[in-house]
Amino acid sequence: MSLIDTHAHLTDNRFAHDLDEVLLRAEESGVRAMINVGYDLSSSRRCVALASKSEMFFAAVGIHPHEAAKVGEQALAQLRQLALGGNVVALGEMGLDYYYNHSPRNLQQELFRRQIRLAKSLSLPIIVHDRDAHEDVLTILGEEGAETVGGVLHCFSGNLNFAARCLSLGFHISLAGPVTFSNSKGLAAVAEFIPSDRLLLETDAPYLAPVPYRGKRNEPAYLLAVAEKVATLRRTTVKELSDCTTENAKKLFKLEIKENIGA
Ligand code: NI
Repeated sequence: MSLIDTHAHLTDNRFAHDLDEVLLRAEESGVRAMINVGYDLSSSRRCVALASKSEMFFAAVGIHPHEAAKVGEQALAQLRQLALGGNVVALGEMGLDYYYNHSPRNLQQELFRRQIRLAKSLSLPIIVHDRDAHEDVLTILGEEGAETVGGVLHCFSGNLNFAARCLSLGFHISLAGPVTFSNSKGLAAVAEFIPSDRLLLETDAPYLAPVPYRGKRNEPAYLLAVAEKVATLRRTTVKELSDCTTENAKKLFKLEIKENIGA
C-alpha cells in the first residue's frame, strides 16, 4: 500500500527535534511521499530546502492569506524564483480566510489573484486554503481561469453543494483529519460523493490530527487514520482508496516517485 500526504508542514518547529523518526513512522504507515507546503516566503524556502534532502519530499511555495497585509513589493518575484527551483510541484498555499481575517479581505483577494496568475505563468497547479470564504473563492477561481492549471481545495470544509461546484471547475478535493471527527456529518457526505479521480488525502500536519490522535501534534503517519475513515465512508478498502488517491496525487502534481520508496 502507498499513500501520499498532499499537504504537510514538516518545516514547522514542532518537527525540529525528531524529523527522522517522523519520516520512519510515515514509511511504516505506508506514506511514501509528502508535499510540504509553504505559507510565507521563509517557510516556502524551507520547503524547497527540505525537498532536496529526501526523495520522499516535494515542495509547494506560496503565501497564506493571513500574510496578505505583510507582503512586500518583491514577494511575488521571489516566489517565482523559488518555484523555478527543484522539486516544486505546486503553488500554495494561497486563498482566503474570512474566519480569522488576519489580513483585510481586499488584500487577501488581491494576493490570491496574483498567485493564481503566477501559477498559470509557471503551469503549476494551486493549493487553495478556504475558510468561511466559499463564494469568493469560487468567484476568483472562475474569474482568473484557474481551471487551466487546476489544483486542490485543501482540508476541504464545505458542504456537498460547494464540493460539486469546485468539481465542476475542474478542481480536486482533499480530505484531512476533520473527516474523522464525530461532528463532521457534512464532510462524511462529501467523502462519499467525490468521484474517485478527484479525491486526495492529506494530514495538514502538525495541525488537525485525526481521531484517535485528536489534540496531539499531527504527523504524516496519521494519514492512515484519515484513509481508513474515508475508505469506510466510501465502502471500499484502504488499499483501493490508497491506489486511487496516490494515482490522483501523482497525476495532479506530476510527482516522480522512486518505486523502491516505502515498498
Ligand atoms: Ni496547511
